[in-house]
Amino acid sequence: KKRMQLHIYDTKQQVAEAFSKYLTEFIASRPAVHMALSGGSTPKIVFDKLATDYATSIDWKKVHLYWGDERCVAPTDDDSNYKMTVEHLISKIDIPEENIHRIKGESDPQEEAQRYGKVLQSKLPNGANKIPQFDLVILGMGDDGHTASIFPHEIDLWHSDANCTVAIHPDSGQKRVSITGKIINNSEAVAFLVTGESKTEKVQEIINKTGDFEQYPASLVAPESENLHWFLDAAAAKGITS
Ligand code: 6PG
Repeated sequence: KKRMQLHIYDTKQQVAEAFSKYLTEFIASRPAVHMALSGGSTPKIVFDKLATDYATSIDWKKVHLYWGDERCVAPTDDDSNYKMTVEHLISKIDIPEENIHRIKGESDPQEEAQRYGKVLQSKLPNGANKIPQFDLVILGMGDDGHTASIFPHEIDLWHSDANCTVAIHPDSGQKRVSITGKIINNSEAVAFLVTGESKTEKVQEIINKTGDFEQYPASLVAPESENLHWFLDAAAAKGITS
C-alpha cells in the first residue's frame, strides 16, 4: 500500500490553516460531500478556523456532517462531541439542519450503534463492495493510539462486521458509539489531525512502523483508496525518521 501523505507544520494554528485549505479544495471539487467528524482537541482548533476564516468560502449546503464517534451522554453534556461541534462550527456556518446527522449519545448505546449503522447504510453512497462510503473521515488520535473510539484494549472492535459498535473508554468506563474499521477504511479519503507533545511517541511508532505500533488502532487506518493524510505539528511529528 502507498505510504500516507504527511503534512507537517510548526504550529497547531498552521495545521488548522493547512487542513482548512485542504478541506476547502476538497469540497469545492465535489458536488456533495459526506464527511465524518471527530472529537478531540485538534479538530476543535480546526473547527474554530473553519468557522471564522472559511465560514463563507465553503459552500456548506452541499456538505453532510456525520460523526466518527460519540460519547454516550446527552447532547447538552460538555462531553458531547456533537455539542462541541455545534459550539465551534455548526452554529457559525450556514448549513441546513437536515445535513446534520448526529449520533444520539442519549439513546441506548447498542440500539444507537445499530440505528446509526443503518443511517450510514441508507444515506451514504455505497462502494462497489456495498459498504457505505464517506467522502472524508476526519480522525484524531488519543495519546494511547486510539482513534475514533476504538481503543487498544478493544482492538477487535476495529474488525467488526457492523458499521458501528459500542466501545468503552479504558479509564473512565464511559460508553461510546463508534464507526468501525470497515467504514473508516472504505472512505474515499481519511485525514488525521494530530498535534502536541503527548502524541510524539505513538506517531513515531505508527509512522516509522516500530515498537508496538500494531497494537494501536490508529495504525490500522489504511483506506482502500490509499488516500490517507496525516496533518501534524512539529511536536507530534518530532520522532518521524523516514
Ligand atoms: C473522541 C475522539 C477521539 C479523539 C482523540 C484525540 O471523541 O474522544 O473522537 O478519537 O479524537 O481522543 O483527542 P485529543 O486531540 O483531545 O487528544
